[in-house]
Amino acid sequence: MSLQQKLASFTKVNLYKASTPLERLENLSRLYGREIYIKRDDISPLAMGGNKLRKLEFLIADAIAKKAKVIVTAGAIQSNHVRQTAAIAAMFGMKCIALLENPIQSSDSNFLHNGNKLLTDLFGAESVMCEALTDPQAQMEELIRTLELEDAYIVPVGGSNALGALGYVQCAIEIAQQKPIEIEFDKVIVASGSAGTHAGLAIGLQELLPKTHVIGVTVSRLQQDQAPKVENIQRELAELLAIVETPEVNLWDSFFQPMYGMPNQAGLNAITLLARSEGILLDPVYTGKAMAGLINYLETSTEKTPVLFVHTGGSPALFAYPEVSKSIS
Ligand SMILES: Cc1ncc(COP(=O)(O)O)c(C=O)c1O
Repeated sequence: MSLQQKLASFTKVNLYKASTPLERLENLSRLYGREIYIKRDDISPLAMGGNKLRKLEFLIADAIAKKAKVIVTAGAIQSNHVRQTAAIAAMFGMKCIALLENPIQSSDSNFLHNGNKLLTDLFGAESVMCEALTDPQAQMEELIRTLELEDAYIVPVGGSNALGALGYVQCAIEIAQQKPIEIEFDKVIVASGSAGTHAGLAIGLQELLPKTHVIGVTVSRLQQDQAPKVENIQRELAELLAIVETPEVNLWDSFFQPMYGMPNQAGLNAITLLARSEGILLDPVYTGKAMAGLINYLETSTEKTPVLFVHTGGSPALFAYPEVSKSIS
């Protein structure tokens, strides 16, 4: 059975009427003298886009099959995942309750109320603040008990479990179908956080483009802590799809400091570069840092092989971080 056939055996709600674009970054390719492509998962059909929608296609179908009426999820105040979950819950007539933390302890008004939080509120989600998401699954179960919710469905942080990661197997299928025939991507670069995106892409591309290596640029933690997260989802996903081997996990972990959710200069520079060379919006928490990893590689490597950047969205956070406006000159 082909990967496409296996994927088709899982129920999903269909948000995507077509594949997201895969395009050559003309100006960046010229700047660095090599083939640089981008997969535009920031342009997806709901709620200002982003990578969570592919995962939510499968997770919400599961929630519907289980007759859920309330979706419970968790994330940071400026979570893209929570914003997209709130939107899809609204679309399917379900209530969304979001357990939120403030990981950088910011009291900036835009951080607390603008960007993703404004949209999460606009989609009608109910936010419950907590001190820190130390054990989100247990904390969400506790919330369900406290609020005496019936028919609740937990969407894990980042939508990252094997079912959600199927969405990025679908993305891998699109990449294999869309890539120009003469182009063989050596590396696919993607932000790696809760790890479902990374794991889904790596499993899918292992099957379809085995010469292509997925590189996760970590946004929260060092390699030794991130690798087991990717490996666990890869293992569960491989089991779900009856795949025997799982790929080696490749991570670049020097681009997230000082911590998750706090912008850094290299990420801010990457945001400006992409805006001014390609008219493309990145974000300060995920894709700016992932692009900083790619730029560092382009500037330091002697290789000239084609690369693909998977743009996972996040631009609403541009309006929530004062560091972004301060960095514009
Ligand atoms: C814009 C953006 N990029 C990348 C990621 C990371 O994806 P994952 O959590 O699947 O590793 C996220 C997760 O929230 C995100 O919002």
